[in-house]
Amino acid sequence: MKGVVLAGGLGTRLYPLTKVTNKHLLPVFNKPMIYYPIYTLVDAGIKDILIVTGGHSAGDFLRLLGNGKEFGLKHLNYTYQEGEGGIADALSLAEHFAGGGKFVVILGDNIIEKSIKKEVEIFEKQKEGARILLKEVEKPERFGVAEIKNGKIVRIVEKPEKPPSNLVVTGIYMYDSYAFEVIKTLKPSARGELEITDVNNSYLSAGKLTYGVLDGWWTDAGTFESLLRANNLVYEREKKRCG
Ligand code: DAU
Repeated sequence: MKGVVLAGGLGTRLYPLTKVTNKHLLPVFNKPMIYYPIYTLVDAGIKDILIVTGGHSAGDFLRLLGNGKEFGLKHLNYTYQEGEGGIADALSLAEHFAGGGKFVVILGDNIIEKSIKKEVEIFEKQKEGARILLKEVEKPERFGVAEIKNGKIVRIVEKPEKPPSNLVVTGIYMYDSYAFEVIKTLKPSARGELEITDVNNSYLSAGKLTYGVLDGWWTDAGTFESLLRANNLVYEREKKRCG
């Protein structure tokens, strides 16, 4: 299984921190943010990884990560997203890399406590379609939110004013190559982006979307509050690990 880390966009919600550098290069406790999603993929047994970057300081990713030796990798692939066309736009750049096979996508600002290995194994056995990972949060308004009926997702709404549940769609997605066909048909949303939620809803309509609930804590790091939270959670985890 291949893996894609999406680290494009301009990170405007973190201005002025992101005025001269890329959000995913900012520190989260003792490592640059992008290390965490890469570790998540590597820990799940994924060795063939594409980094989609963009905006400022794209060259710094190469200097920082090189060929991925620090992660035990032999090679890393890179591509560049022009502008800030949205998560689905960034993902469209992975079509050639995916080569028609299944793959795991993780957003470059998503950090988790535990492993997704078991979830990836479940998706490996899934014949086709997509699998997403949900997590219960206190304030779902800021995310894609799943409405569940009788144990099944019935719809996903992006940043709803009145969330139908507390279960949000984390930035870890598993897809087959149908995702690229869907992206080609998408129109920009009100915020001017190609939305990953539209991709997920398309799988849902086709009856090809499964889900799991993420074990352990999960956070993004794209706002001042969540960046602080990410730092604290990682710090606490490292403190426990090192005793
Ligand atoms: O973190 C999970 C949430 O991520 C989901 O619940 C939402 O459904 C999904 O839309 C997304 O919401 P955000 O509004 O928080 O996404 P954001 O614009 O902060 O982008 C998250 C990451 O996606 C970012 O760190 C890098 C990547 N990205 C984003 C954009 C807009 C790109 O690579 N290119 C882009 O153009």
